[in-house]
Amino acid sequence: MSVEVSWPKYAWINGKIVEWENAKVHVFVHGLHYGTGVFEGIRGYYDSGYIKIFRLEDHMKRLFNSAKIIHIKIPYTVHDLVNATVELIKANKFTKDIYIRPIVFRGLGSFGLRAQNPVDVAIIAVEFGKYLKKTGIRCTISSWRKPSADSFPVYAKTTGIYLLYHLASIEAAMNGYDEAILLDHEGFVAEGSGENIFIVKNNTLITPPTYDAILEGITRDTVIKVAKEDLGLNVIERRIRREELYTADEAFFTGTAAEITPIVEVDGRTIGNGRIGEVTSKIMDYYNSITLGKIEKYRKWVTEVRID
Ligand SMILES: Cc1ncc(COP(=O)(O)O)c(C=O)c1O
Repeated sequence: MSVEVSWPKYAWINGKIVEWENAKVHVFVHGLHYGTGVFEGIRGYYDSGYIKIFRLEDHMKRLFNSAKIIHIKIPYTVHDLVNATVELIKANKFTKDIYIRPIVFRGLGSFGLRAQNPVDVAIIAVEFGKYLKKTGIRCTISSWRKPSADSFPVYAKTTGIYLLYHLASIEAAMNGYDEAILLDHEGFVAEGSGENIFIVKNNTLITPPTYDAILEGITRDTVIKVAKEDLGLNVIERRIRREELYTADEAFFTGTAAEITPIVEVDGRTIGNGRIGEVTSKIMDYYNSITLGKIEKYRKWVTEVRID
């Protein structure tokens, strides 16, 4: 999916809020040349005078873990970046839903592969509506596979691996589909180009396990927790064969951008009755309430920023 955004007034870079036009780095930064960077995608929902950020701290913790995996030491704490995000949102006075993008990458210095250049840190927040169609999308199995955990640090949300998802996404669009589904190196269903995947069979949710080569999605984690604890659903984490996906009762993606997106077709096979399934619909509604802080038990996941 390509997303049109209008630019906000301010961005945060290396400790300061600056005018959008001044949030710049040099063309010689290491991250640009070799993909030596990590990032996050976080949503904030505008609701009656507040931006409500979903699982902000968990996203920042994943950012630090991703950085650690690729030998990057972020010169701030999780707390610093949480506060910086809140300040940036206040400065921009957003009154619509937003997407927040913290990014950390090796900056200017040497161009050697081994260079341990100083690290640049930025936070960008832009207005952002729905990413994928909430009425259900048509998907295709990508010709690009998700590499195994011994071929690439797949648990880290690195900038480098997004070349793979970019290619998968473009290929799906070129073939007339809304989104790509990547298989893992052994041919089992892994994930979408920016989403985790679930199927529903006999009221049970099935999703690929985290020991497989998937990103440990925060939305995936949310769905697993609430499906078991609040919606009375069984959840099984196990490998999924491609044929099981084609013959599932329901299927859906989870992701910060995608939220809960129903999948109604895969490679010309209609999933279920071709409409949003009952279980998927229940999860979509519940997820919306959670992200807006309307379920008491999960209010701890929501950071409210008052927009004056
Ligand atoms: C490849 C990939 N898988 C899964 C996800 C879903 O992760 P999350 O729910 O944490 O946004 C994303 C999005 O960040 C992603 O890019």
